[in-house]
Amino acid sequence: MKRIEKVIVKPTYSPEYPVIIGEDVLDNACDIVENEIKAPVDKVVIFVQEPVNKLDIFTRLVESFREKYPTYIVEVPSGEVAKSLDFVLKYVRYLHEIQATRATLIVGVGGGALGDLVGFLSSIYLRGLPLVLVPTTLLSMVDSSIGGKNAVNLFEIKNVLGTFYQPKLVLEDLRFIDSLPERELRSGLAEVVKYGITINPTIVKIVESDVDKIFEKDRDTLISLVKLSVECKAWIVHLDEREERDVRQILNYGHTVGHGIEASARGALTHGECVMIGMIVESDLGIRLGYTDRSVWEKLVEISSKTGLPSRIPRFVEKKEVLRKIEYDKKRVGGLIKLPIVRRLGEFEILKMDVSKLISYLDNILEEYYERQG
Ligand SMILES: NC(=O)c1ccc[n+]([C@@H]2O[C@H](COP(=O)([O-])OP(=O)(O)OC[C@H]3O[C@@H](n4cnc5c(N)ncnc54)[C@H](O)[C@@H]3O)[C@@H](O)[C@H]2O)c1
Repeated sequence: MKRIEKVIVKPTYSPEYPVIIGEDVLDNACDIVENEIKAPVDKVVIFVQEPVNKLDIFTRLVESFREKYPTYIVEVPSGEVAKSLDFVLKYVRYLHEIQATRATLIVGVGGGALGDLVGFLSSIYLRGLPLVLVPTTLLSMVDSSIGGKNAVNLFEIKNVLGTFYQPKLVLEDLRFIDSLPERELRSGLAEVVKYGITINPTIVKIVESDVDKIFEKDRDTLISLVKLSVECKAWIVHLDEREERDVRQILNYGHTVGHGIEASARGALTHGECVMIGMIVESDLGIRLGYTDRSVWEKLVEISSKTGLPSRIPRFVEKKEVLRKIEYDKKRVGGLIKLPIVRRLGEFEILKMDVSKLISYLDNILEEYYERQG
């Protein structure tokens, strides 16, 4: 019997939904959908990200729906390019052409970029079509497919248009990790580490003891880590679905500095690489502000060396630009910014900090995190 785990997400306002995690879950995708979503379905539209459309598991997913419903497949280009209004409009036209109704099931198969696009599309078409997400990267399994946030980019502004719209079901088949490039796996691991540092230290222990198994893509280890991470995310979404209660902001741990570095690196670093550096810098800031225990910083540095995630900023990333991005971070309200802080492993709080004070601290700290000139 193959291992299957189920986590129920109970958002603060929206109806609850299951996340099913395991291997081979997609072979019976249609049966699972029928069991979990007890609503009539007239047709199924599967949006799939390249190169996932070429995988055998994807073919099996399609077959499982084709046996029962008229099934349409839409192949979506990989990456951020698809997270745009141009693609939204193109797919609105397509849904209209195939006469999609409120009983048309949308299935999104791909990484976080695909999930964000399809989530947004499903939320606005006829004011909402039932959505099933099938995340295919580690990042999308542990983070973006849960919690109902979606967005597209416009005028080069990332995630500027979006809604909160929860899926009806999330199906996580760990076989997708087999084809995932190691750098993408490592990038997703940074978000797993984030849950471990901020919410559940057991995750940190597993990452430390089983790092080889993770990179060997050992199913059992990955299923355990994904399940624990999904539980963390589900807990936060239960407490604060819409980021109204100073709780959901903890998911941004490492992201204030991380986003600044990511935007300035212009694609040369992955999201997870930037988040790892961001968590290290932000924990250092927490120590200097008198909140964070030094053991948090030490643990992060240790994990970065074990996992191969960076702890230093490459020289081509300009400090001035990083600071400018942080200054205009979306978590800013007037002159204050909400900054997630970890006191000890698994203990967090949200700090309101003066933006100019933050910038002046980071101006000093960041210099120490640049790669040494070789
Ligand atoms: N909505 C949220 O809550 C949330 C949270 C975090 C991130 N995001 C968004 O998620 C996106 C990043 O997600 P991501 O890291 O999954 O990136 P991604 O969707 O761009 O996928 C990364 C790369 O992996 C490829 N890929 C996907 N699955 C694969 C597989 N199984 N085998 C081989 N290749 C595969 C993709 O084609 C792509 O080239 C960003 O747009 C970010 O804004 C959203």
